[in-house]
Amino acid sequence: MSKLSLDQEAARRRTFAIIAHPDAGKTTLTEHILLAGGAIRAAGAVRARGENRRTQSDWMKIEKERGISVSASVMTFEHAGADGVAKMFNLLDTPGHEDFSEDTYRTLTAADCAIMVLDAAKGIEPQTLKLFEVCRLRDIPIITFINKLDREAQDPMALLDEIASKLQLDPAPIWWPAQSGNRLRGMVEMGTGTFQPYARKIPGATEDAGHPEALPLAEAERYFEPGEHQELLDAAELVTGGYPAFDRQAFLEGHMTPVLWGSALRHFGIDELLAAIGEWAPPPKTMKAKKEAPPETRNAPAPVDLVVDPGSAEVTGFVFKVQANMDPNHRDRIAMFRMASGSFKRGMKLKVQNTGKQLSVNAPIMFFASDRELAEDAFAGDVIGIPNHGVLRVGDSLSESGMIRFAGLPNFAPEILQRVRVKDPLKAKHLKKALDGLAEEGVTQLFRPEMGSDFIVGAVGQLQFEVMADRLGEEYGLDVIFEPSPFAEARWIMPAPGAGPADVEDFMSKYRGQMARDLDQDPVFLAKSSWETGYATERFPKVAFTRTKERG
Ligand code: G4P
Repeated sequence: MSKLSLDQEAARRRTFAIIAHPDAGKTTLTEHILLAGGAIRAAGAVRARGENRRTQSDWMKIEKERGISVSASVMTFEHAGADGVAKMFNLLDTPGHEDFSEDTYRTLTAADCAIMVLDAAKGIEPQTLKLFEVCRLRDIPIITFINKLDREAQDPMALLDEIASKLQLDPAPIWWPAQSGNRLRGMVEMGTGTFQPYARKIPGATEDAGHPEALPLAEAERYFEPGEHQELLDAAELVTGGYPAFDRQAFLEGHMTPVLWGSALRHFGIDELLAAIGEWAPPPKTMKAKKEAPPETRNAPAPVDLVVDPGSAEVTGFVFKVQANMDPNHRDRIAMFRMASGSFKRGMKLKVQNTGKQLSVNAPIMFFASDRELAEDAFAGDVIGIPNHGVLRVGDSLSESGMIRFAGLPNFAPEILQRVRVKDPLKAKHLKKALDGLAEEGVTQLFRPEMGSDFIVGAVGQLQFEVMADRLGEEYGLDVIFEPSPFAEARWIMPAPGAGPADVEDFMSKYRGQMARDLDQDPVFLAKSSWETGYATERFPKVAFTRTKERG
């Protein structure tokens, strides 16, 4: 039983994700943050590459190498900061493959903060930029970690200037590196002038020697070659004058990013990063929702806008991901439930707002690095896994009253649309069920054309099709063929402001052959080209064509 109040429990939670371009070091950093947090012991190289890398989550790699027994979308650990207050950290996994997937977007809806990892030699790469844009869209504050200082890096000022110019974000250097690669001497804390020396691996030794004690920069001359110490003193002065000091409010509002440096592989700068997350990353924030009866409730009152406070008593939250096959012995599906408020107790009954269904949450799971455990209680910011047999879908809102609906879990218009067929025609019925299941999990999107019997499957990246084909084979015994579809784009349609359902109906009747329904039975226009989308948009101003659809 927690002795803390609901507000205090929420305030000590830090729910964050790491975003990075592939190979910047996200997996290595994840492992070293877990090490710094005491969630795992002894470091081990994370090596799995090749084929596995493309289809598995980065955490599965860690799991394989390290013998960690779960691969989950979240890893929870408790760690006390410098202030002695034990914080609960929930580290969310974002898939690290090159195809940009919806999974990543959705996971970010459950994060209150993001750690942006840059490779010190490469700076901002294309995927960093894409992920950053999602964070900005969702007002997620960002802590920057510039990695791989143990290799030759770009000029630190050039890296900061790139952050400022490409991301329109004020970089506030918290630490400043004293060179890089073979000449890496350490780093200096801007506010205090504390110098943290870097210890290089001793040749022939298998373990890092650890990092010598921090000391005032003025007294750290012995760690430098002649002239270098003075250079760093000068640089530190220049940096203090040239960049803004860290302002937490500006960071929380998304205008500023604190910048930390280090080497994930050499466990350098990681304790500092974890401390920064504990100290500066925001606790769970208030969330916009609607108080609304489940659909088809008789005499239901009109929905009312609502702000859910993390410290309010009712348990509320939403499902941002559904994971299948976490345990190969059970064909279970686990819904990842991010709590927005309340004090959850095992055995509690929660209701799904959009279906009105009630479920007793008797076996909720908390994910720790070494094990998965039954969650006896949980608070705002926490992520618990709820095993279920298809009752819960991505985007579902759950609460005790069943009346709370969170918006904002988006579906994105797919960038690739393919037709899918099963080789054995007798299995067509199975295919529908399997496709529905995978779409409910959010693996791919499914569109059912209003005319004809095809299934059109949509994805943001090609990898989603590969995963899908794999799973259809392995789990459902279905051998499928993907074929090009005549469609290039999908757009959800709804009445434009001031227009009504009749206007949408009018459009649909003219394009019947290109209309489809998504999993929620919402109408979707399948265009043959982006030109056609543009043409339809101009010709039917009373219809809104959207690239995203928010469920909930
Ligand atoms: P990712 O999840 O962002 O894709 O990156 P990951 O951690 O897998 O790291 C990519 C490569 O970069 C790995 O090399 C890893 O060891 C290395 N790396 C990560 N952090 C650091 C660091 O601080 N310093 C140095 N020097 N290397 C780092 P790898 O597995 O050997 O693969 P590769 O080098 O053959 O690609």
